[in-house]
Amino acid sequence: MAETTPTAPPKPTIKIDGREIPFEKGDTIIRAAHRAGIDIPHYCWHPGLSVAANCRMCLVEVLPPPGRPAMQLDILRWDPQKNEYVPQKKPKLLPSCQQECAPGMEILSESSPNVDEARAAVQELLLLNHPVDCPICDQAGECRLQDYWLEHQRSGKRMRQEPVHKPKGVVFGPTIVYDAERCIVCTRCVRVSAEIAKDPVLSIRERGNLGEVTVAPGRELDHDYTLMTEHVCPVGALTSADFRFKARVWFLRSARTICQGCSTGCNAFLDYDPRNNTPYRHRPRDNEQVNKFWMCDEGMLSYKRATEDRQTGALVGREDASAADAMEAAKEQLKGLRDDPDRVAIILSAQHSMEDNFALLTLARTYVGAADFFVSGKPLGRGDKILMNEDKNPNTHGVIALAGSTAGSDRPIAAPRPVADLLKGIASGKYAYAIGLGADVEVDAKEAKAALQKLRGFVVIASHDGPLTQAAHVVLPACAWTEAEGTYVNEKGLSQVSEKALRPLGDARPGWQLVGELGRALGFATGWKKLGDLRAAMPAELRSGKSQSNEAAPAAPVASAGAAAG
Ligand code: SF4
Ligand code: SF4
Ligand code: FES
Repeated sequence: MAETTPTAPPKPTIKIDGREIPFEKGDTIIRAAHRAGIDIPHYCWHPGLSVAANCRMCLVEVLPPPGRPAMQLDILRWDPQKNEYVPQKKPKLLPSCQQECAPGMEILSESSPNVDEARAAVQELLLLNHPVDCPICDQAGECRLQDYWLEHQRSGKRMRQEPVHKPKGVVFGPTIVYDAERCIVCTRCVRVSAEIAKDPVLSIRERGNLGEVTVAPGRELDHDYTLMTEHVCPVGALTSADFRFKARVWFLRSARTICQGCSTGCNAFLDYDPRNNTPYRHRPRDNEQVNKFWMCDEGMLSYKRATEDRQTGALVGREDASAADAMEAAKEQLKGLRDDPDRVAIILSAQHSMEDNFALLTLARTYVGAADFFVSGKPLGRGDKILMNEDKNPNTHGVIALAGSTAGSDRPIAAPRPVADLLKGIASGKYAYAIGLGADVEVDAKEAKAALQKLRGFVVIASHDGPLTQAAHVVLPACAWTEAEGTYVNEKGLSQVSEKALRPLGDARPGWQLVGELGRALGFATGWKKLGDLRAAMPAELRSGKSQSNEAAPAAPVASAGAAAG
């Protein structure tokens, strides 16, 4: 009997405004709609948080099954002809963030006048006591109150009384400032603290229009994910002490980058102003496989490393030098290395991209004939069970995979060893030359510098200043991750591309380009002049993969990208 392949049963569906979409068991209407790319307006719902159903912006009309009466509400509606309120009935609307889908359910969202009226009313209610300070509010340009007013209200408020006044500029902790008058009490920040950071330090006090967020007595908002409270706040109530009043979001552009703070490799947007070539902030970029919707504070603030502690010019003997003079000096320092490949140490970098490391690996294996590899990077730090990894380098796994591959060689090569082993090798007189990538070491900086300075020739290519650049005879300045496209392999082995955002600072150039030039200066035929050439030479399994991010749209200006954050 012929075998039949079992086929998955068709998914149950619902209809929203006549469009049929599938849903998963347990989906709420808004979640199924979100997955299908249908936007139902919402404030308190967030795809990564529990359901609070308190803002009522997501109300929809669920049609009764055939033959069953609709659930009706008795209301009083103003009749201008009679000049009085008259009793009427209208369908009871349901919050789509709380209502589970049922097979065949028919829902009216954009196509129901009852829903239109309810959304306008919710908007008017939320804005009754809201200050009209958009011109000085950091959320302007990416505020849901602004966006939804335009989409669902477009009318002035009818309340003539003085609005309720509440505390402003409340310092919640080292990173967050709170404005209770702008708060719509959606509790997203409360849920981020309790559910994501596992630290229920925020709660709501009072009820109705007196409600406001408060920090637990004796505490500050100081867990490792405080900036996520600001990120999820749909209005300008929570502002980041780092970002507030620094930039208007409509001047910013966004690049899809990979956080360099640890080996988790969280997907981020780097928001920068192209006019002054300045980065202003990180925002998480949704990726179900890596960081879901979140980033830690350390990573959120690590965008600053794009400009801080940078190696922006070439150095020869710690003195500033031109790029040409530095290359000449590097050639001079390494002139004995061709005859003595066994005495050459190669330092790959867990901080630099796959492309930079592959270029150096190829120079070492194919041309120099070196076989001793080490890896530089930041020492271990604090991790948690949420996102933060103890390994504070974005590409440790990439370097291990590269060195373990046959890239640039047909000989098996030992895995790269820590810098501590290199220092021992120098002390025993095994190494006379070294070519290195990166600036940081896992060992004591003073000890490393003292040992590395004993080398006959030591050339370093690095984007930042650190113990390796401080010990090198010649330093060639490389682009930071923000200035050149590069691939990073995270702790799970996911290969992810980080886009170029900023123009390189000073004389910095892509690390792989500098390796190619160094090779040519040493008399080798290191031919790759374009990124495409280099990537084509990489073994298929290590070639830059697609970014595995969930979002498919090109990097959007922040004003619209912000709204996509849930
Ligand atoms: S501060 Fe923002 S996130 Fe928190 S409850 Fe208020 S509006 Fe919601
Ligand atoms: S967990 Fe690591 S990769 Fe993610 S944001 Fe924090 S530092 Fe960056
Ligand atoms: S999003 Fe449904 S009630 Fe707020």
